[in-house]
Amino acid sequence: MIKIYSPATIGNISVGFDTLGLAISPLDNSNLGDTIEIKKYKNFKIKNIGKFSKQLPKKFTKNIIWQCWKYFCKKIKKNISVLITLEKNIPIGSGLGSSACSISSSLVAMNVFCNNPLSNIELLKLMGKLEGKISGNVHYDNVAPCFLGGLQIILNKKNIISQNIPFFKNWIWIVAWPGTKTSTLQARKILPKKYKLKTCVEHSRNLSGFIHSSYSMQQKLASKFIKDLIAEPYRMKYIPNFIEIKKTIEKMGAIGFGISGSGPTIFSICKNITISKKISQWLTKNYLKKKEGFVKICKVNNKGTTIIG
Ligand code: HSE
Repeated sequence: MIKIYSPATIGNISVGFDTLGLAISPLDNSNLGDTIEIKKYKNFKIKNIGKFSKQLPKKFTKNIIWQCWKYFCKKIKKNISVLITLEKNIPIGSGLGSSACSISSSLVAMNVFCNNPLSNIELLKLMGKLEGKISGNVHYDNVAPCFLGGLQIILNKKNIISQNIPFFKNWIWIVAWPGTKTSTLQARKILPKKYKLKTCVEHSRNLSGFIHSSYSMQQKLASKFIKDLIAEPYRMKYIPNFIEIKKTIEKMGAIGFGISGSGPTIFSICKNITISKKISQWLTKNYLKKKEGFVKICKVNNKGTTIIG
């Protein structure tokens, strides 16, 4: 039996739509990721357990793990008979890279089970393809950090899909999921097909400014570039009181704020644990809509998808 863990991720990080992604782990060591157990079986079977397993589709063929199995078997040209147990601990449609988590953990599990027939680059490409099937477009900003860990920049040039970039180790990432769902497919459909030249120039400046500041270790400068001109102006309509919340969080001392992936999770960045706790309390009181909702204070997960058993 093999056991694999994949962490939650923040896609976009505001400044890098489809280009930047970060793997995260809660500071209190609570579970914010999916676990896969794989073992030999008489045929192919999926078992769903975990806090959010009730949100998974009832129909077997709608389960993303089945899609992963199908594509993996096609790629290695062999059907594998396995029992896969998915422990679903990330809510679906939350903006925390839930599908990426199931994709990455199950593909790595199948690959390890078969003695690694696929290389990391083949696995990552397959992950992107499956993510694309769900969200309508191939985007790697969740699967890459989920698989590889850390802060990833998506390059997507032939066999160089993604690379690690430096991150500020003292930054604390607070994620707040209200308990409601957003479909990434729908959240992508509402974005414009074209942007003004002025917006493109400013977006390029922000992204390159952020990357430059990360490499030259200028935290204050880096934080000034965490701005989203591509998705936030269109997606914030679906997050009630977004502007007011943003202003409040920034006033409380956050150095960055935005929508995690396609939402409805929002993220805040802090340098100070006391401020992080205050922001976490405020969000718990004011942002959560349903009892399942949560706020987690996180650090960067540098490991990505790992074998845990
Ligand atoms: N970059 C993707 C989007 C992330 O914003 O649509 C989805 O989690």
